[in-house]
Amino acid sequence: MQITMIGSGYVGLVSGTCLADFGHQVICVDNDETKINGLLEGRMPIYEPGLADLVLTNIRAGRLSFTTDLASAVKGADAVFIAVGTPARRGDGLTDLTYVFAAAREIAAAIEGFTVVVTKSTVPVGTGDEVERIIREVNPTADFTVVSNPEFLREGAAIADFKKPDRIVVGLEDERAREVMLEIYRPLYLNQFPMQFTSRRTSELIKYANNAFLAMKITFANEMADLCEAVGANVLEVARGIGLDNRIGPKFLQAGPGYGGSCFPKDTLALVKTAQDYDSPVRLIETTIAVNEVRKRGMARKVMAAVGGEMRGKTIAILGLTFKPNTDDMREAPSISIIQALQDAGCIVRAYDPEGMESSRTSISNVHYARDAYDCAVGADALVIVTEWDAFRALNFERLKTVMNKPLLIDLRNVYRPEEAQRHGFTHVGVGIASR
Ligand code: UGA
Repeated sequence: MQITMIGSGYVGLVSGTCLADFGHQVICVDNDETKINGLLEGRMPIYEPGLADLVLTNIRAGRLSFTTDLASAVKGADAVFIAVGTPARRGDGLTDLTYVFAAAREIAAAIEGFTVVVTKSTVPVGTGDEVERIIREVNPTADFTVVSNPEFLREGAAIADFKKPDRIVVGLEDERAREVMLEIYRPLYLNQFPMQFTSRRTSELIKYANNAFLAMKITFANEMADLCEAVGANVLEVARGIGLDNRIGPKFLQAGPGYGGSCFPKDTLALVKTAQDYDSPVRLIETTIAVNEVRKRGMARKVMAAVGGEMRGKTIAILGLTFKPNTDDMREAPSISIIQALQDAGCIVRAYDPEGMESSRTSISNVHYARDAYDCAVGADALVIVTEWDAFRALNFERLKTVMNKPLLIDLRNVYRPEEAQRHGFTHVGVGIASR
């Protein structure tokens, strides 16, 4: 198959590279020349484990290439994927579809022969209809059909998620697209990964419903954590207890400082707006958003309560800035609200993150960046784990104790059992773990 991927950001780059690895001929397009030149030289625009090697292997095998020339990449392609950004629009929070529609226009002008145009970007219900309308308007004689094929990749695990998906969802309105999509995902289909064919609108909604449900599940765990602290229970045990029920399942029940990232916050908001527009509100999701928003800053109050007394001049060491480990992504990271609230209270903030320090500079300021966890802890009145990077899973507590002002660990990801830290003379404050 000849596949063109429009947009070489996170989704486009990972999807394009994995499809090339399946044996297809893939051209990734982006209008950012620096990005394309970097990729051609093997420089990744994002941090994603395993991606650089896979890109290089497929370039060398002659299956993967990069260009800024959209028109020539679209000509003769069997399928053209739209994987451009869909940020939240400033002001109303609705999805900004400018890039999607611009891509549709450019694709329309370049189409040759029967082409399946596949929307991979996360787009609100009805966007496929609009993409179809635009292409037909620009090029009335074009032979094409528009398909929805949402992505379910997690940052940090994107390659594994693409190659071993729980399912592949394909929304189509023209049966000719079914064969093309089956061919594209042939290696997965042959390996019995479920492929769900449905209507385009249903497929578009599945993506939002999926993320909204997961965001709600995390938020449920977070509220249970607060309740556990209040009633003297342990949220890890509650999560295990309910997660063992097959109907609930154990994943996405880890209580923490609130969800962040580029997907859950944006997609939940977009779903709420769509639902309101159709006069069919999704109140559970409205509440999820509200609870999560309050929670992030609330974590700073938790830190302050543990430290106690006057906060002005206290030093707080933050371990982990990114919204989750194995990424350099700072979008909607709980660390931003936590640090801001601590600074508002007059605290001095030191921070360390294995990958996110550079990208954090636009969202946080007046922070002393440390070389590693131990350097971060120097003079600290509390050490706060905000993101559960592996590098923080086996900290040397004795060494930490010698550099800290007070041996206080606030573990917002429950990385350590309280006893482990207490054994070394630390006070341990977790999430949803009532102190004895
Ligand atoms: C999420 C979905 O998991 C992917 O399936 C989806 O494709 C992607 O959004 C998207 O729409 O593009 P991602 O945002 O990369 O992926 O990250 P997650 O691993 O889902 O984590 C999101 C947030 O939830 C993080 O802040 C994480 O720390 C938090 N989280 C996750 C918890 O607090 N507890 C959990 O149990 C799980």
